[in-house]
Formats: sequence, structure tokens, C-alpha cells
Amino acid sequence: MKVIVTKSYEESCRAAANEIITQVQKKPESKLGLATGGTAEQVYPFLVDAYKEGKVDFSRITTVNLDEYIGMDPDSPQSYRSYMACRFFGPAGIDAANTYVPSGRNKAEDEIQLFNEKLYEDKMVDLQLLGVGVSGHIGFNEPGEKLTAGVHIEKLDESTIAANSRFFDSPDDVPKEAITMGIGDIMKAEKIVLIATGENKVPVMKALLTDDEITCKIPATMLKMHRDATIVIDAELAKAAG
Ligand code: F6R
Repeated sequence: MKVIVTKSYEESCRAAANEIITQVQKKPESKLGLATGGTAEQVYPFLVDAYKEGKVDFSRITTVNLDEYIGMDPDSPQSYRSYMACRFFGPAGIDAANTYVPSGRNKAEDEIQLFNEKLYEDKMVDLQLLGVGVSGHIGFNEPGEKLTAGVHIEKLDESTIAANSRFFDSPDDVPKEAITMGIGDIMKAEKIVLIATGENKVPVMKALLTDDEITCKIPATMLKMHRDATIVIDAELAKAAG
């Protein structure tokens, strides 16, 4: 793994965005795997700025998102489709037809089939952007005795529900399940860029960057086996995890 340590969370977002911009400049028809969540949120404005400044053209990319809550209406402001549309697809001039965000409303087996088609029917993901959960999840692959390779429905960890309750009126409103790429799907991306910040990510980042263990109990540790994974963290987190 390559580790980029920046001065601040803002600089981490800029660095992660630069990885994506470089990818699309090199290969304009890149297929990008995208993440939502609080950490990834500030990466997208850098992509939009680069687009507006004419530094990068996203018109030929295709995108696949990592996950969505089960039961979530794609039109809801809390859906990951809405998140992506307002933070990236709309402002960067990306045709919605070239994007896929799983629907939490469709019949599970139909959506899993569609997700697999979107992931594998033409080409593999060139670059996958990731955040990481306090539970150690990537996508919504939660810790357990074993992990799932392919697209599946995952029961969310209590710590994930607690962490994500900040995006809802109350913890009871947080969906309890999600449809997610599996660990195997994530690991098939040519390149992975993970961004992390915050005190609550210290134990997970210590497991990823300092300890020499790979464990299903901290799914992000699987990234140690990836041939081209870049971890972007700020100096504060790097010091605490070091
Ligand atoms: C989001 C996703 C999740 C988040 C993770 C971190 O699409 O797949 O793995 O990246 O839950 O979320 P934040 O950044 O809000 O702590």
C-alpha cells in the first residue's frame, strides 16, 4: 500500500481528487467506483472545480457506486443517488445514463443482478474511491467471522447505525441493511484510493497501517492484499494511528 500523509483533511480531499483527475486525464473512458459518506463528500467539490476549470472532462467516464441503504427511495434527499447527483454528477456535467447507484427499493435479487451487470458487463473498475467505517467496513462489508466476495445485502453493524444516525432525524430512522459491493468486487478494481479522517477512525487505521494482520474482524485490512491501493490520511490521524 502507498500512504499519502497530508497536512489536513482538506488537503487529503484534494489529494484523493487528484488521483481521480489523473486517472481520467490518462484514460478519459475510465470506469470509476464511487463512495458516499461524510469523508468522501469534500472530495467531489475538487473534481467539480477541475471540471469547471477545463482541467478534466468527465463526459466519457462511467461510474458505479459502492452501496445503498435497503428501502431507501432513490428520490429521497438521503439516498446515495441524490448525494451523487447533487455533489458530482450534476455539477460535473455527467450524464446520469453513464452512472449506476444501486437502488434500495428494487427486489433484492433483481438489483443484485443489475449491480453485477453494471460492475462486470463491459470493463472492470479502473479506480475505486473508498471511505472506511468506524467498524472497519469498506463499502458496507461489516466485520464478522467471514466476508462476502460478491454483491449482497448486508446487515449494518450497530456502530455503523450509530455513526450514520447523524444523517437522519433519529437513530431509529437509519436503515438496518444495505446492498453493497462485496470485498471481492472491491479488490478487483485496478486501483483503490481510500480516504480517512477523524479520531473515531484511529483504531481502524492503526489496524490497516501499523499492525501486520489481515482479519475479517476489520474488513479494511483486506486492502493490504491489493496491488495498487493508496491510503490518504491527514497528519493528525497518521500520528494517532502510528
Ligand atoms: C459509503 C460507504 C461507506 C463509507 C463509510 C465512511 O458509500 O461505502 O463505507 O465510506 O461508512 O463514512 P464516513 O465518511 O461518513 O465516516
